[in-house]
Amino acid sequence: MDKNDVHKTNSFYWDTQGNDFLSAIVLPYYGAFVSEEKCQLFGDVSGKKLLEIGCGNGQSLQYQAERSASELWAVDISERQIKKAAQHLESYGLSAKLICSPMEDECGIPTAYFDYVYSIYAIGWTTDLEGTFQRIASYLKKDGVFIFSWSHPIHRSVTEDNGRFVFKKSYFDEAWYPVAVEGDLLLADRKLSTYVNALAKAGFVIEQMIEETDDEIMQSKDDNSDMAKRAKMFPVTFVIKARKLGELL
Ligand SMILES: C[S@@+](CC[C@H](N)C(=O)[O-])C[C@H]1O[C@@H](n2cnc3c(N)ncnc32)[C@H](O)[C@@H]1O
Repeated sequence: MDKNDVHKTNSFYWDTQGNDFLSAIVLPYYGAFVSEEKCQLFGDVSGKKLLEIGCGNGQSLQYQAERSASELWAVDISERQIKKAAQHLESYGLSAKLICSPMEDECGIPTAYFDYVYSIYAIGWTTDLEGTFQRIASYLKKDGVFIFSWSHPIHRSVTEDNGRFVFKKSYFDEAWYPVAVEGDLLLADRKLSTYVNALAKAGFVIEQMIEETDDEIMQSKDDNSDMAKRAKMFPVTFVIKARKLGELL
């Protein structure tokens, strides 16, 4: 699949459909059943410089601003999402430096500048995982932290058939394919090892990885949805906290 085709299709999707069909996933939630309030991956961000990759409507930026981050930046491929993020922040009297660009590209974000780079359900849209992780490493100061969540590849591979979960596609299949939503949207499901190896290659060390569904969140939501049924049986979200070790030679 050509990178430009993916960008054209997906930015058109986010510009026209936004989160109308895929509901927004924003901090404190990393996914439907995992929360920062329980996991405390960030800890205290007061006085810290943060960059969000794929900021969507800006609600996660609001969360970080309300926790006294000193500087907030974000990048998103969609002009409409950037506009929504700006409006959302403004309505709360907040602001961030917002850049409309694919995360894969050079777009004027400073290097060796941020204490944290984070991304909530956006990293997997990249057409170049290794290049994106290398770029993210370059934005971070030494010992800076990268936290991201994404759809778990097991969740993406499994479907329900007569009350049983079965594989509908190979876990190893990383090809781009059209997602079954209103409008055209392209997705690729990468193996967990692809993420782990790309992080290692970019000079990150993984400090924590979360795959579990949080029972308390599940019970508090009293959720009987298909997603909840899945989340009881296997991971639907994974979250990784990684630290930049130093400059790669
Ligand atoms: C599922 S949303 C996640 C954002 C936010 N957490 C939310 O739920 O609204 C995915 C976001 O990634 C952005 N995106 C998709 N592909 C991208 C790319 N290659 N570079 C930068 N942003 C991208 C989309 O425009 C969208 O705002």
